[in-house]
Amino acid sequence: MMTSQTQNPFYLAEMTWPQIEDYLKNKDSILLPVGSTEQHGPTGLLGIDFLTAFDISMAVSQKTKTLVGPVLPFGMALHHMAFPGTLTLTPTTYIKVLVELIESLQKHGFKKVWVINGHGGNIAPITTAFCEFLNFDQKMDLQLINWWHLEEVTLYEKEVFADQNGFHATCGEISTTMYTHEEVYKRNPQIKLQEPGAKKTTWPLSPLEFRKHFPDGRMASLPSLANAHHGKIIFDKAVDSIVRKIHK
Ligand code: NI
Repeated sequence: MMTSQTQNPFYLAEMTWPQIEDYLKNKDSILLPVGSTEQHGPTGLLGIDFLTAFDISMAVSQKTKTLVGPVLPFGMALHHMAFPGTLTLTPTTYIKVLVELIESLQKHGFKKVWVINGHGGNIAPITTAFCEFLNFDQKMDLQLINWWHLEEVTLYEKEVFADQNGFHATCGEISTTMYTHEEVYKRNPQIKLQEPGAKKTTWPLSPLEFRKHFPDGRMASLPSLANAHHGKIIFDKAVDSIVRKIHK
């Protein structure tokens, strides 16, 4: 999805600089999808957090004719480092990356940045990056949307998955990628999980403590309940809810 061509005329990576210059004559906002590359239990894709952030942002971009930047696929995932495939930035690096990306946008004349986030571990560093940025430019309008926290999304997930949605490798995020990446799940080995992952504990945890407490990477979730049908509903709810916020 990220490297193959898309249908979105507002996707920055597939535009030219004169097109961005034209866009900035009438509009000054941009969507910036951010996620993480990290384990999502034995059945979830490592890319879930950035794939969802990107696909949701692309749909919002097309519906609102808002420019969307490329996705930042790496976030703060130190606690998942005891699982192979996880790629992380330290909090300090991640904050700096965000501040410098927002600074790049500001220098071109963007005044409003919607950070569309797909990963819980990014919330604290993103908030800190916003504070850092606003310390030297109080006029910038910085908005953080954690898509899985949107009210419509959480209400639906509670209704269909109840407590077994969990906190990591959730039924909601796995369903969403089963909808957007159906073929990928078909070719991956099918593992039937019978029991929900271990319950939440005190936070933060070191990578080794995390793996000890959550041996297969899931936090209280039972991803076997996930499916593409729920995924489409969750995806549409997230998109519609963000579109409404942008139009407000
Ligand atoms: Ni996730």
